Amino acid sequence: MCGIFGYVGSRTATPILLDGLRTLEYRGYDSAGIYIPGHALIKAVGPIDNLAAKITTAIPGTSGIAHTRWATHGAPTEANAHPHTDMSGAIGIAHNGIIENFRELREGLVVQGIKFESETDTEVLAKLIGTFYSGNLLEAVKHALINVRGTYGIAVISKYKPDEIVAARMGSPIVLGIAADGNFVASDPSALLVHTKDVVYLNDGECALISKNKYQVFTLRGKKLDKTPEKVQWNVEAVQKQGYEHFMLKEIFEAPEVIVNSTRGRLLVGKGRVKLGGLESKLKALSNLKRLMIVGCGSAYYAGQVGRYMIEEYAGLPVEVELGSEYRYKKNLPDKNSAVLVVTQSGETADTIASLRSAKEQNLLTLGIVNVVGSTIARETDAGVYNHAGPEVAVASTKAFISQLTVFVLLTVFLGRERGMTEAEGKQILKELDELPKVLEEYLKQTDKIKAVAKKYAKYTDAMFIGRKFHSPIASEGALKLKEVTYIHSEAFAGGELKHGSIALLDKDFPVIALAPQDDVYKKIISNIEEVKARKAPVLAISTEGDMTIADLADDVLYIPKVHPILQPIITTVPLQLLAYYVGVEKGLNVDRPRNLAKSVTVE
Ligand code: G6P
Repeated sequence: MCGIFGYVGSRTATPILLDGLRTLEYRGYDSAGIYIPGHALIKAVGPIDNLAAKITTAIPGTSGIAHTRWATHGAPTEANAHPHTDMSGAIGIAHNGIIENFRELREGLVVQGIKFESETDTEVLAKLIGTFYSGNLLEAVKHALINVRGTYGIAVISKYKPDEIVAARMGSPIVLGIAADGNFVASDPSALLVHTKDVVYLNDGECALISKNKYQVFTLRGKKLDKTPEKVQWNVEAVQKQGYEHFMLKEIFEAPEVIVNSTRGRLLVGKGRVKLGGLESKLKALSNLKRLMIVGCGSAYYAGQVGRYMIEEYAGLPVEVELGSEYRYKKNLPDKNSAVLVVTQSGETADTIASLRSAKEQNLLTLGIVNVVGSTIARETDAGVYNHAGPEVAVASTKAFISQLTVFVLLTVFLGRERGMTEAEGKQILKELDELPKVLEEYLKQTDKIKAVAKKYAKYTDAMFIGRKFHSPIASEGALKLKEVTYIHSEAFAGGELKHGSIALLDKDFPVIALAPQDDVYKKIISNIEEVKARKAPVLAISTEGDMTIADLADDVLYIPKVHPILQPIITTVPLQLLAYYVGVEKGLNVDRPRNLAKSVTVE
């Protein structure tokens, strides 16, 4: 939510900043801006292309900061766009987060005669830094931050000393990029990959002073910290489209590779066991677990719901699943037999972080399924499993979701083998998981029919997704994909719930997407499809190859390969992702950047 990029070095800064912003655009695209101290402060409403279009002449200057915004305080106008400046206009700041006490601070500054040009909380911080500046930017920033309550990841630069950037972090991610010809600051390491793989993550309460050849990290109280760069494992190709029209399509087609990466070195097929190095230190506690609480937001929450069915059925461990935005209000009691497992692609989702911290307060064992290495959640959980899905660029989660389901299969076998799952069953699941990338690869070669079906379903304004058991949360994920990418009103229900109210919505203009693979609840979902047909609603069914019953019943069928029931939801997800993608494209929408959304939701 909001992306920050800064550079100080020997090259011309503007093109570097614009490219950096483009990689971070998934974090918000309400407005964008750059500040090249002593040369330019340019802002534009809308995506980064609008900002680039405004830059018609070359701007000198080898340092600067840039920002892409997801609006929280104040409408997405040019006045509210970052960077914001202090009263003199010399100090510029790009900010991600929310300054909670900005009203009080603003009142105090107004009394001092300071004038404001925007409605943002960030401008208050900019003005505050200005009032504390007396020749040392780092000191002024530290001083201002001590007065601030809330969350921030900031990059600050001034025209007094344009070869220095000050960065600081409290709750919103900040990473430094260390390169031979200059240094960087960004919200996400993926934005740094074209320049360097050497990064330094700031922790909450830390700030940094960055110049062309040097970086120093301090606590806000001024203690110098010794931080050596870590290597990012991602490749730069992962953040490029590589011939695909959209990142979303590329990332859907990466599903087979993602499964390979999420399972690499972890499958002990011959033993029917799974190796999860990140959990080994907690083996004893995990064997004694009586309850697991899974917490996540958005797609990660739905992945958690599928995970619950997997773990309860195959590992015999009771599981609860909560939304990150709600778990935090739950009364947690200290319980040494319970663990909290947070699921998150970014590792930076504010509500998930808040839930994790509330669990830690009760001394609960905390675990993570996290994609971004070095992220806040990866660092704050007691133990965990990395997805290794690579960076996900499109706002709608696709490959990360596939990878989360894959890791849940691994976790199920890992826990299950300690709790009565037989070696034969472990072997069978892992053998099929090992073969899954090939199965998916073949399936992805024959998805043309989805395009045709998408054309038909793009004309509707509503859609209902239904499924049962593993496929009830997959229905929710399908509805989420469709609504976020196409703006079609989409809802999801467990098949059995339909008749308790929602069926009243259905008529010939309200299609139902029914997830009906041939599993142990197949007959029940077929009954639901019958009920739907009786109300004349068009039905698009997703079923497993060879199912002729469904061909007679549904208006359209998309066939998928049949696999082990625990793996089936991974396959079923793919046509739903493609359906949302092709409907969005059919409607001429920007599928990679849906309106009003941001990929990394770092505000609560
Ligand atoms: C946002 C994204 C979703 C994602 C959710 C949780 O809403 O648009 O795709 O599922 O945040 O994000 P996380 O990074 O915690 O998985």
